[in-house]
Amino acid sequence: MDEIVFRSPRKKGRIAVFLSGRGSNFMAIRSAVERGAIDAEISLVLSNKADAPGLLRARDMGLETLFLDPKLFASREDYDRAIIGEIEGRRIDLICLAGYMRVLTPGLCEAFKYRIVNIHPALLPSFPGLHVQQKAIDWGVRFSGCTVHFVAAEVDMGPIILQAAVPVLQDDTEDTLAARILVEEHRIYPEAVGLYFAGRIEVRGRRVFILEPGA
Ligand code: GAR
Repeated sequence: MDEIVFRSPRKKGRIAVFLSGRGSNFMAIRSAVERGAIDAEISLVLSNKADAPGLLRARDMGLETLFLDPKLFASREDYDRAIIGEIEGRRIDLICLAGYMRVLTPGLCEAFKYRIVNIHPALLPSFPGLHVQQKAIDWGVRFSGCTVHFVAAEVDMGPIILQAAVPVLQDDTEDTLAARILVEEHRIYPEAVGLYFAGRIEVRGRRVFILEPGA
């Protein structure tokens, strides 16, 4: 048996959501927080895009928001160093990437090891990267889906927490497949974050184990 390298904390947590666009996964997490399915509060919504609809919605809801303009930083490392400061200053427990379209620097990944999770619209390790719904169609795979995983320095390759599969249909377009996958994203992302703060996620080697309640 691989050695236990991480066990998620059982506590009322503080979440930061990072997004660059629409923010439907942010909204799904927010709804789960509101109905008590996630024992946490959303303490920050951060974006690299001033006009990201998800950021504007968060602001309208009265959540704390932060737009960090990449143009004001000399390098990606500088940008991510600023992020580390913002996150540490707010005592954030978990960063949820939700359509955040920047690759994190190794420094940021290391600073918050096992404290950053991401949702990806494919069954990793197949189809990392961008435009993955179209790639799934082009490859002719019969199933695709989505993956919630810990973020490691290697893009889209951290330990897998939850996955859900959907069929790929013969007449699918990128949009119809993306919509079918998105329904599952909105289900498994809040579920994974809920498990995290229920203290039910354990990482052994590179495998994630979901513990029984109260284990
Ligand atoms: C989601 O489909 C998410 O899986 C994807 O961006 C979309 C964001 O939608 N993320 C990635 O492709 C990350 N590589 P949302 O803004 O409505 O949550």
